[in-house]
Amino acid sequence: MRVALLLSLAVLVRAASPGETDAAAPTTVASNNAGAAQGAGVGGASTGTVTTAAAAANATANANATCTFCTVPDGYTAETVPAPLHVERQFSPRWRKAHRRARRYLKGWSVQDKVNLVTGAGWVIGRCVGNIVPNPSKNFSGLCLQDSPLGVRFADYVSAFPAAINVASTFDKGLMYERGKAMGDEFRGKGVHVALGPMTNMGRVAAGGRNWEGFGADPYLSGWGTYQTVLGLQDANVQATVKHYIGNEQEHARTTSSSNIDDRTMREIYTHPFLRAVQADVASVMCSYNLVNGSWGCQNEKTLNGILKTDFGFAGYVMSDWDATHSGVHAANSGLDMDMPGDIGFSGGARRYWGANLVEAVKNGSVPSDRLDDMAQRVLASWFLVGQDKDYPETNFDSWRATGPNNSHIDVQDDHYELIRKIGAASTVLLKNVGGALPLHKPRNLALIGSDLGPSPRGPNYFPDRGGNLGTLGMGWGSGTVNYPYLVDPLQAIQPRARQDRTSVNWFFNDWDLAGAKNAALNNEVVIVGINSDSGEQYITVEGNNGDRNNLTAWNNGDELVKAVASVNNNTIVVVHSVGPLIVEGWIDHPNITAVLWAGLPGQESGNSLVDILYGDYNPSARLPYTIARNRTDYGTEVDYNTTSAETNINYTEGLFIDYRHFLEKGIKPRYPFGYGGSYTTFSYANIEVSPIDDNWKRDGGGNGTESDSSSHNTTATGGDGAGGGKGGDGGDAGDGGAGGDGGEGGAGGKGGDGGKGGDGGKGGDGGKGGDDGEGDKSSVGSFLDDE
Ligand SMILES: *[C@@H]1O[C@H](CO)[C@@H](O)[C@H](O)[C@H]1NC(C)=O
Ligand SMILES: *[C@@H]1O[C@H](CO)[C@@H](O)[C@H](O)[C@H]1NC(C)=O
Ligand SMILES: *[C@@H]1O[C@H](CO)[C@@H](O)[C@H](O)[C@H]1NC(C)=O
Ligand SMILES: *[C@@H]1O[C@H](CO)[C@@H](O)[C@H](O)[C@H]1NC(C)=O
Ligand SMILES: *[C@@H]1O[C@H](CO)[C@@H](O)[C@H](O)[C@H]1NC(C)=O
Ligand SMILES: *[C@@H]1O[C@H](CO)[C@@H](O)[C@H](O)[C@H]1NC(C)=O
Ligand SMILES: *[C@@H]1O[C@H](CO)[C@@H](O)[C@H](O)[C@H]1NC(C)=O
Ligand SMILES: *[C@@H]1O[C@H](CO)[C@@H](O)[C@H](O)[C@H]1NC(C)=O
Ligand SMILES: *[C@@H]1O[C@H](CO)[C@@H](O)[C@H](O)[C@H]1NC(C)=O
Ligand SMILES: *[C@@H]1O[C@H](CO)[C@@H](O)[C@H](O)[C@H]1NC(C)=O
Ligand SMILES: *[C@@H]1O[C@H](CO)[C@@H](O)[C@H](O)[C@H]1NC(C)=O
Ligand SMILES: *[C@@H]1O[C@H](CO)[C@@H](O)[C@H](O)[C@H]1NC(C)=O
Repeated sequence: MRVALLLSLAVLVRAASPGETDAAAPTTVASNNAGAAQGAGVGGASTGTVTTAAAAANATANANATCTFCTVPDGYTAETVPAPLHVERQFSPRWRKAHRRARRYLKGWSVQDKVNLVTGAGWVIGRCVGNIVPNPSKNFSGLCLQDSPLGVRFADYVSAFPAAINVASTFDKGLMYERGKAMGDEFRGKGVHVALGPMTNMGRVAAGGRNWEGFGADPYLSGWGTYQTVLGLQDANVQATVKHYIGNEQEHARTTSSSNIDDRTMREIYTHPFLRAVQADVASVMCSYNLVNGSWGCQNEKTLNGILKTDFGFAGYVMSDWDATHSGVHAANSGLDMDMPGDIGFSGGARRYWGANLVEAVKNGSVPSDRLDDMAQRVLASWFLVGQDKDYPETNFDSWRATGPNNSHIDVQDDHYELIRKIGAASTVLLKNVGGALPLHKPRNLALIGSDLGPSPRGPNYFPDRGGNLGTLGMGWGSGTVNYPYLVDPLQAIQPRARQDRTSVNWFFNDWDLAGAKNAALNNEVVIVGINSDSGEQYITVEGNNGDRNNLTAWNNGDELVKAVASVNNNTIVVVHSVGPLIVEGWIDHPNITAVLWAGLPGQESGNSLVDILYGDYNPSARLPYTIARNRTDYGTEVDYNTTSAETNINYTEGLFIDYRHFLEKGIKPRYPFGYGGSYTTFSYANIEVSPIDDNWKRDGGGNGTESDSSSHNTTATGGDGAGGGKGGDGGDAGDGGAGGDGGEGGAGGKGGDGGKGGDGGKGGDGGKGGDDGEGDKSSVGSFLDDE
């Protein structure tokens, strides 16, 4: 029934930062804005108090000279919302306990100690992309913050997982959780405390460069992807960071544009997946490069103090995207809790908004000491929450010096390749299949045509941060990547199968030699043509694509290649590896194109996953996490490519109507709608009843376990496509047991069902963890790591 609901929803109704490590640092726009003007009033130090006269002159000069965003655009507002302080009692029992421990631990820490806990060490200072320095006198070992949303960046002996856009298209909560948990195990094994993912921006524009790092264009689906990923990562004791908060929907002008969004749209579309992250107890939220209503994402009082911390009750900490901080005092007072990487303009620690400036600001009262306490407590509470205070592995790799002595080359891959292969198959959408073209039955011969079906002649990791497109495409480019341990391409994977079936395999990987391709396609029982489309983060430009895609058509002559092959072979199967939708009108209805598989970005096991689908070892069950239009203009929203102006206002005037909502609203027929996807089995729904999902549908998701039953993906099974999946455990109510008397908040009612971490057959939710122990704020400071 839940599946039916989801399906009908589907019928009616899915990223900045090198961010995280932006090699090409954005220009240092140390700007005030409408909100910041108020900050300037506070000690005249909206760009941070500073300790040296020269730096002070600089900061002031920068603030004035480049103040391009001093006004809120007409029709929009920038509200003043104070930081919620002393609100621990509003947190869930788990968080209350963590905060209590953090508060106790922080007793005796100086202002400087606390500032060190919230200010990054500085760009490329430390082993990770972000580093919080240790505090040996407090037995605090520091924090390692590391990309990416699909695995451990800048490390060896790690796995390259399928991109989030792929796990979203599985529509399978169990797999979403398992992927998060497996990635979490790898982050933990490398000694990473804070994983910089998941990313859950919405894919407002089809060509958005980082859409593939997220979970597609529907907030409900994105919400589940986010929720399960956070649970998985944090069950491995790793702090998750949900990003980029908020309205970071394109790469062009990402550091100089204001996403102007009305409140309803903000809450129903853009913040919804972030709410789900908070419901999963996410440790950290990363604020984004852009402005919202003319106020920077990392000092926007309404989005940080207001929506996130007050309305959602977020109990963790807000960290800046890398170099997205634009002031000292104002940012602190607006809700920013951690400045990353801790310096201005990637200056290697030379110039800072915080650090010594924040110490000064607290001492002179520009930032209330309560606010600093709140910042520090949020950071340490998150550390306690996921259990990093004990037995956490030391950071054992080095992002910048892979061959140096700091890299212990620990192998954390375990058997994750199996899960990766499975998700690769489970995320491959069958868009077209006529005359039983698929699955393949021992063809006598077949040809693979197109460079996307073979290896890159330069190996999988030739381009830094995957900033190039040669050979089969397994992930986009930018900070949201990892180094492949290996990459199984389709050719490599199909050959063992051919040996078994006695199939002759031919291939032709020159995409521009159409005559050669046709020749290779002739006289084969089956021809598989592979095409792709790539995108990524703004700091790398690939073939003229500055992060965002310039077009929604195939790269490397792909559309022409498909047409050429189809003109000579009547059993042409198209395989697409793409970061997002493509316009396929040029060939989709071609009578000789018998099948189309949309394989997304499957990661290191790409070829194996594809072969599992091609031969029916895995029954396709994935669905599109975005709409494929007939014409690019049908989407109704566009990337603003205009980077010539100093400031760009991006008005979200379409409101709620992005992706399929827009098509429905305007009555536009898409080629394939959000949620579309075929199977090798036929099944039908009848007499569907819909009933309300009662009060289990509350905080913590109220999920009843995974809806999907992996065994039913087996084509030999007789069932449907997952509707029968196991019901999970009880989605217990998150009700609080009620505050106890002084010294005891006891009897917390238990955490709600975890929304089904279950894999096969649906393992239950968590149903009520036992009561929380009493508070007892015994100020005994015997051990500062009091464990209760
Ligand atoms: C002042 O700013 C300029 C340009 O941004 C930079 O080159 C210089 O190092 C800065 N000086 C100080 C003292 O921060
Ligand atoms: C620069 O900004 C500061 C504080 O915001 C203000 O006091 C000062 O007058 C401004 N200077 C110029 C030249 O506008
Ligand atoms: C966005 O709205 C602002 C304020 O109403 C307006 O000045 C600007 O021209 C609009 N931008 C676009 C691209 O429509
Ligand atoms: C932006 O302005 C709109 C229109 O006034 C308002 O509804 C919305 O709440 C504002 N959002 C923020 C984050 O200030
Ligand atoms: C110091 O921290 C480590 C973990 O980082 C912990 O195992 C140890 O118990 C702590 N020592 C004390 C005295 O609390
Ligand atoms: C679309 O962009 C890709 C990558 O830049 C390019 O290879 C391709 O030729 C473009 N398509 C068209 C039709 O221009
Ligand atoms: C389909 O393929 C056959 C060869 O099998 C070819 O003769 C025919 O022209 C093709 N049809 C089209 C529409 O290209
Ligand atoms: C495709 O072409 C082959 C010969 O090239 C022929 O045997 C077969 O019947 C054709 N199939 C269809 C569906 O036309
Ligand atoms: C796409 O739509 C635009 C504007 O509506 C139109 O000018 C163009 O011809 C359409 N393209 C195709 C291929 O239909
Ligand atoms: C780009 O921005 C500049 C400066 O604001 C403006 O003059 C120009 O018309 C814009 N171009 C487009 C295509 O919007
Ligand atoms: C599919 O199910 C059949 C019958 O239960 C079993 O023999 C076969 O091994 C299964 N295949 C896969 C790939 O799980
Ligand atoms: C979830 O489980 C509870 C307890 O087993 C049950 O009462 C409720 O109906 C279930 N909800 C759904 C949507 O299946």
